[in-house]
Amino acid sequence: MRFCYFFLFLGFSISLSAQKKAPAKPAVDPIEAKVNALLAKMTLEEKIGQMTLFTTGWDVTGPTISGNHEQEIKNGKVGNVFNAHTVDFVRKIQKLAVENSRLKIPLLFGYDVIHGYKTIFPVPLAEAASWEPEMAKLSAQVAARECAAAGVNWTFAPMVDIARDPRWGRVVEGSGEDTYLGTKFAVARVQGFQGDLSGPESVIACAKHYAAYGAAQAGRDYHTTEMSDRTLREVYLPPFKACAEAGVGSFMTAFNDLNGVPASGNKYLIRDILKKEWNYKGIVVTDYTSINEMVPHGYAADNKDAARKALIAGVDMDMEGSTYMDYLKALLAEKKVTISDIDDATRRVLRQKFRLGLFDDPFKYINNEREKKTILRADHLEASREVARRSIVLLKNNGDILPLKKGLKKIAVIGPLGNSKVDMMGNWYGAGDAANCVTILEGIQKAAESGTQVGYYKGCDVNSKDTSQFAAAVKAASEAEFVILAIGESGDMTGEAASRSDIRLPGVQAALLAAIVQANPNTAIVLMNGRPLDLSNIVDIAPSILEAWYPGTQGGHAIADVLFGKYNPSGKLPITFPRSVGQVPIFYNMKNTGRPMNEGKYTSKYIDIPNTPLFVFGYGLSYTKFEYLEINTNKAVYDVNSFVKVNVTVKNTGKVAGEEVVQLYVHDIVGSVTRPVRELKGFQKVKLEPGQTILIQFQLTPKDLSFVRLDNTFGMEAGKFEVFAGGSSSATISSTFEMK
Ligand code: NOJ
Repeated sequence: MRFCYFFLFLGFSISLSAQKKAPAKPAVDPIEAKVNALLAKMTLEEKIGQMTLFTTGWDVTGPTISGNHEQEIKNGKVGNVFNAHTVDFVRKIQKLAVENSRLKIPLLFGYDVIHGYKTIFPVPLAEAASWEPEMAKLSAQVAARECAAAGVNWTFAPMVDIARDPRWGRVVEGSGEDTYLGTKFAVARVQGFQGDLSGPESVIACAKHYAAYGAAQAGRDYHTTEMSDRTLREVYLPPFKACAEAGVGSFMTAFNDLNGVPASGNKYLIRDILKKEWNYKGIVVTDYTSINEMVPHGYAADNKDAARKALIAGVDMDMEGSTYMDYLKALLAEKKVTISDIDDATRRVLRQKFRLGLFDDPFKYINNEREKKTILRADHLEASREVARRSIVLLKNNGDILPLKKGLKKIAVIGPLGNSKVDMMGNWYGAGDAANCVTILEGIQKAAESGTQVGYYKGCDVNSKDTSQFAAAVKAASEAEFVILAIGESGDMTGEAASRSDIRLPGVQAALLAAIVQANPNTAIVLMNGRPLDLSNIVDIAPSILEAWYPGTQGGHAIADVLFGKYNPSGKLPITFPRSVGQVPIFYNMKNTGRPMNEGKYTSKYIDIPNTPLFVFGYGLSYTKFEYLEINTNKAVYDVNSFVKVNVTVKNTGKVAGEEVVQLYVHDIVGSVTRPVRELKGFQKVKLEPGQTILIQFQLTPKDLSFVRLDNTFGMEAGKFEVFAGGSSSATISSTFEMK
């Protein structure tokens, strides 16, 4: 038996860093000095210009900009644009600013580079399913390199909204339901996009949507959110705080109102928490026209009133709404806003421009040669394939029908998503081009042995009632040795403004599945979707299910790698898959209630379905098996605020090498307020050869055991804790320890 040790130290050692001497700080930060010097020369209009962001357009002739905006940039009245990309266009617009405006302040060029620019990576939810933040960092690095080469210097990503409601279409853009996992991914993405911002391969990132946008009532996009301050601070804010600490250049306010106050007018969120408590110095930009939307929210009388409320709340830049441009001057004259708030906002924008080095070289990002050489580089495509295969989750594999056996003569690829290029990219794919995408059919054709015949039959559309193509697909299934059935949601069924009330497979796809499996039980389902689906009506019939999400440009190859066993799947769900939409919101770190579910009637449960979801958070299979042998802590009793070492022993008891995401969960048994039944506090993906055993040591920091206590302070409480380890949130081996 092979045995190896793997030590993992999560958290930071306070004592070590405290021993190091802090380097002497220069009296005045050089960037601040430059910002102040420039600010001193600026007129009010020019300051408001820096607080203004407008989109450029795109029509059949290519990128466009309206005559008005051209003039406004020349006059210094618009300091930032978005949606402009490709070097020639960006150069043209940057020239308007630096060759014509009085102070020659370069523009920021924003763009939604969410999961890739031209080389599209798996959607963010999929990347989170890798449980490897390094993969998200790599994906963000490649995206930054490509979009920076196309002239972009600011991405509106990452979306760090915690989302516990699969009806909400934007779950696809985040990292799922868990704060701990989501925070790790948020930071990795910021690091990936920004690097140290010094070179031309990094861009400013944007933590969005601040805050609690993922908690929209009933999962309906843009809807109201209501929550306690404790839940806000414990569940929804930590990824944002971590981004601020990681130096993210900007924050974007959300569309929703939170406890009655729209996010873009929410002083508590922006000035009190973000700018004061967290000492954040970057830009706070609104989401698209969300200042104006305070009028229909019923929070502002008109756009002027909305502009006033936004500035007072701490919004630095108006995206597309024109309210700052139209009203700040008058509001200042009427003494309804202050020049110090305007100066502060302007400083924040200039600071990022200096950080990017744009004043030294406004064309730093603008280089045709680099654009040509960088986009869709071979190593970028390889990285996208690697991240994609590490994001795929094996949900079911009856009789180990996957991976595909050698020597197959005939494979039928069936289903509406089996040969769709555009759907490989999901919903928000920046400048991604469907023509560059590898479909599932193409991936399988490439990977199959030379003697294998691979045919494609659509069977039906994603979302229609038409079953006229069933017969041909069923015939092909019965004549094939193996069937790959690619079904799910089309890319445009997820993302912004794509909430669903019914999260089952759309159209007649479930019926197609039943017919195909009946014709040939050697069928593997490949799901493509951007949210948890209710798979209750297919899970028992489907012999094998692979959750491939929207895997990006190289998706077909990545899926084939997993189907043919070239890569042993290692992804785990970053969000719970419910049995029914009636269970929503359902998430693993719920409270126990005073009447936890058991046999009796008067306990917290449904009378028609179990409380448990179909697939729990953290779940995912492999072509091998892992057994959790032991968990213990190095002591039974600790002093409050000390670090706890937890040892977990795992063995690969199967026949092939595989990677397992070892997960650590903690339960604080009694608190001054009720605590979740368990909370993720550590994870690590490790590779084990067959028969290999590994010891992983996690370290729980005082912060990991802390929460917002009854008196609203954040900290740990003395008492007993349980700690669980396993390959999902149902982790069964456990140990206890006490903090005294
Ligand atoms: C609206 C979306 O909510 C936001 O995420 C995006 O960055 C902006 N539009 C800009 O496109």
